This record gives sequence, structure tokens and C-alpha cells, in this order.
Amino acid sequence: MSFKQRIFQSSLGRKYVMALTGALLLLFLIAHMTGNLLVLSGPDAFNAYGHYLKTHPQLLWPMRIGLLITFVVHIYLAISLSIENNAARPNAYAFKNTVQATLTSRYMMLTGTLTLAYLIYHLLHFTIGVVQPQYFSGVDGENRHDIYTMFVMGFRNPIVYVSYLIAQINLVFHLKHGSRSVFQTMGWNQARFKGLINGFSLTYVTIIFVGFLLGPTLILLNVIKLPGEM
Ligand code: HEM
Repeated sequence: MSFKQRIFQSSLGRKYVMALTGALLLLFLIAHMTGNLLVLSGPDAFNAYGHYLKTHPQLLWPMRIGLLITFVVHIYLAISLSIENNAARPNAYAFKNTVQATLTSRYMMLTGTLTLAYLIYHLLHFTIGVVQPQYFSGVDGENRHDIYTMFVMGFRNPIVYVSYLIAQINLVFHLKHGSRSVFQTMGWNQARFKGLINGFSLTYVTIIFVGFLLGPTLILLNVIKLPGEM
């Protein structure tokens, strides 16, 4: 049996890979959120950031492909482990633990599925340009893709804003549990680390929630404006 087969066939191996892909996605979100915060620095900085990525395919494409593989493996393992979890028959000794594990896995599957639905909507919006095509193809004075105007016009629409707000609330629930599970799977969940792990997970989700919604909220409140309105 190959190393790959052994990892994917043992339930512990799959849990490790699940934790590893989850941890990579936690890192991706921090990087993505930091990039989005550039919208606070104005149109030039934000469009320059988008332009840099688009004109460096040697950076963008490995990142995109790596991210896609990470998402696919994470989702595949979530489904396979959840099926296994649901199939586990509770016995007299392990009943409480099994019920608890099943509830947690159902809750993670629900918030995870909603996150995936949100991701598809989000890619249709900002990467493919199907949700608001009228703001998608503009260019700025320097002939760069005008992602600043696309972003501002997007979040001026209260329906778009509320859809992202709801998605972020759901994401917080998924990440709150997910960020703690990574430590648990790695076996770092001894009682003395509990406070530290909870503190980390709370800090992480707060940064993600505030960091992602800061720009959109300032746009909705008309604090962040288009270049012509400043
Ligand atoms: C309020 C929250 C968010 C905002 C405002 C936002 C904004 C954006 C924008 C403007 C882009 C396009 C960038 C460009 O064209 O250069 C983008 C791309 C993307 N976002 Fe988000 N994002 C948010 C949350 C998320 C979350 C939670 C995820 C993952 C679960 C995510 C995953 C992605 C991915 C995978 C891409 C495509 C990157 C690529 O084109 O390769 N985003 N986002």
C-alpha cells in the first residue's frame, strides 16, 4: 500500500490531512483579508494590488491551483469522515461521545456547506463577474482593472452587503470550531492549553470578522467613496 493510500484510508490520517488543509485555509483567509484592507488606502493602492496579482501569473496560478486542491481535499475528507462518523454505532460505553461527535460533525457540515455556497456566489461576483456585470470590466486612469470601483459599487448595494454579512456570521461559526479542532487533531488539547486555544480561536475569528467587514461597512456608510466623489 502506498503512503498516499495509507494516509487516505486510515481515519486518523484523514483527520490529520483535514486539519492541515483547514490550517492552510485559515492562513489563506488572513492573507485575503489583509489584501482587502488595502481598499482603506484608496483606489491607487487597491488597483495596484489587483494589477500586481494579475500581471504575475507565475505567482497567481500556483496560488489558485494550490487553493483549489486545498478546498477540494478539505471538502472531500469532511464528507468521507462525516459519513464514517454517522455510521459509527453508539455502544453502551461510547454513547455520549458518539452522539456529541455526530452533532459536532453535522454542525460543521452545515456551516461548511453554507460557506461553500457563499464561496461559489463570491467567485461569481468578484472573480467571474456574473453577479454585478455592470461594475466588473472597468479600468482606471492607468488602464488597470478597476477593482476599487467594482468593490465600492458592490457594497453600496445593501442586499449585497447583507448577503456578505450573513456569510461572515456563518463563517465565524465554522472557523470558531475549526480553528480549535486543528489543535485537537494534533493532540495539543491537554487541559493546560485549553484557555490558550480558546483565546487563539476567539482572537482569530474576531480579526477575520472585523477585517473582512470593515471595508464593506465603511462603503455602506459612505465613508469610503469613489475617486470622483472625494
Ligand atoms: C467580506 C468578505 C470578502 C470580501 C469583501 C472579498 C473580496 C474579494 C475580492 C474583491 C476578490 C477579487 C480580487 C481580484 O479580482 O483581484 C476576491 C476573490 C476571492 N475570494 Fe474573497 N472576499 C471575502 C471573503 C472571502 C472568503 C470568506 C473566502 C473563502 C472562504 C474568499 C475566497 C476568495 C477566493 C477563492 C477568491 C478568488 C481568488 C482568485 O481570483 O484566484 N473570500 N474576494
